[in-house]
Amino acid sequence: MIGLFDRLSRPLLRALDPEDAHALTLKALRYVPLARAAADPPELSVRAFGLTFPNPVGVAPGFDKNAEVPDAMLRLGFGFVEIGTVTPRPQAGNLRPRLFRLESDRAVINRLGFNNEGAPKALARLSARARAGGIVGVNIGANKDSADRAEDYVRLVESFAAVASYFTVNVSSPNTPGLRDLQQAAALDDLLARVMEARERVRARTRSVPVLLKIAPDLTLADLDDVVGVARKRRVDGMIVSNTTLARPASLHDRDTAREAGGLSGRPLFKLSTRMLAETFVRAESAFPLIGVGGIDSGPAAIAKIKAGASLVQMYTGLVYRGVGLLTEIKTDLAAALRRGHRTSLESMVGIDAAEMTAESWPA
Ligand SMILES: Cc1cc2nc3c(=O)[nH]c(=O)nc-3n(C[C@H](O)[C@H](O)[C@H](O)COP(=O)(O)O)c2cc1C
Repeated sequence: MIGLFDRLSRPLLRALDPEDAHALTLKALRYVPLARAAADPPELSVRAFGLTFPNPVGVAPGFDKNAEVPDAMLRLGFGFVEIGTVTPRPQAGNLRPRLFRLESDRAVINRLGFNNEGAPKALARLSARARAGGIVGVNIGANKDSADRAEDYVRLVESFAAVASYFTVNVSSPNTPGLRDLQQAAALDDLLARVMEARERVRARTRSVPVLLKIAPDLTLADLDDVVGVARKRRVDGMIVSNTTLARPASLHDRDTAREAGGLSGRPLFKLSTRMLAETFVRAESAFPLIGVGGIDSGPAAIAKIKAGASLVQMYTGLVYRGVGLLTEIKTDLAAALRRGHRTSLESMVGIDAAEMTAESWPA
C-alpha cells in the first residue's frame, strides 16, 4: 500500500515546484485515510531521555513545521515526529523561491527562514491530539526580529510543556541571521541556563520535559568542545547532530543550483554530519544520548549513524527522494543487523565505530 502510494505520487510531486509539492504532500497526509503500519518488533524499541520509542526512526523538523500531520506520520510507522521549528509569533520567512532540489545529488538546499504559523496555532493542534499518544517533539526557535532571542525559547518552553514529548532548542538554522551565534559558548550557556530554568518552573504543573540541543555541522572542533561542555554543564537531556550545512562539497554535480544560498541537506550531508555525530559522541562520554540526522537515504546509512553514536535517527530529504518506503527499508535492515550480530537491542551498537571514525581524514 505504502509502496504503491510512493510509486504513484513521487513522479507527480517531483514535477511540481518543491514548495508546492510539499504543501500537497501535507494535504494528502491530512485528508487521505492511512492504514496503520504493523507494530514494530520489540527489539527495535529504544529507551532514551526517559521516553520509550517503538523504533528509532523519526521525522526531522522542517517537514511538519506547524504540527499539521504528526498522527499521520506516526500511523505510517515512524517511531517519533519532531514538529517545528515553531517561533512565538507567525513568520513569513524569506521570499520564494527558497527551496531547491539538486536531483542528481539527491540533495535539497533551503533558505526558508523559519516560515511558520506561530506558536498559538501549533499549540492548538498539539493540544487537540494530546491524548492520542506517540512521541511528538517540539523544535523551538526565535523570531527573526526578536529583541531578546533567549526569551523566545523560554516562552515556548512555558507554552508547550504540557503537550511536548521533548523540546529541541534549535540554534543551528543557517537561515535566520545571527541565530547560529547562539552556539557560541557564553551565549549558549546563558540560553540553556534560562531554558532549563523555565523547564523547572513549569515542572510543577506539568512534568519534566526533556530538552535537546540541535547543532550545525559547520562548527569547528574547538567550537564543538565548548558546545558539548556547555550542554553537559547545563545538563541537557541530549543533542541532535546535525542541521543543514552551508558547505558545498566538491562532489556536487548540480553546480548551478549549488550556488543558491541556504542550507544543504540530503546525501551530500551524510559524511560531514556523521563525522560530527561521532565527534559529539566521544565528547559527550555517555552523559546523554544523541539523535543522528543528515543524509540518511538507506538502511546501511541509518546503521552507520547508530554506529557513529546515534541512539535515534531522523530524516527529511531522504523521504523526498525515496518516499515512505525508505522507512520500511530501514526498519527491516535494522532488525536484520540485530539478528546477524546476535544482539537483542540497538543500544549495544550505539557508538561502536565513533572513536575509529574520529581518527579518519576529515570528509571533503
Ligand atoms: C526544507 C527543509 C526545512 C527544514 N526546516 C528545519 C526547521 O525548521 N528546523 C530544524 O531544526 N531543521 C530544519 N531542517 C533540517 C532538518 O531537520 C535536518 O536536520 C536536515 O535536513 C538534515 O537531514 P536530511 O539530510 O535527512 O534532510 C529543514 C530541512 C529542510 C530540507
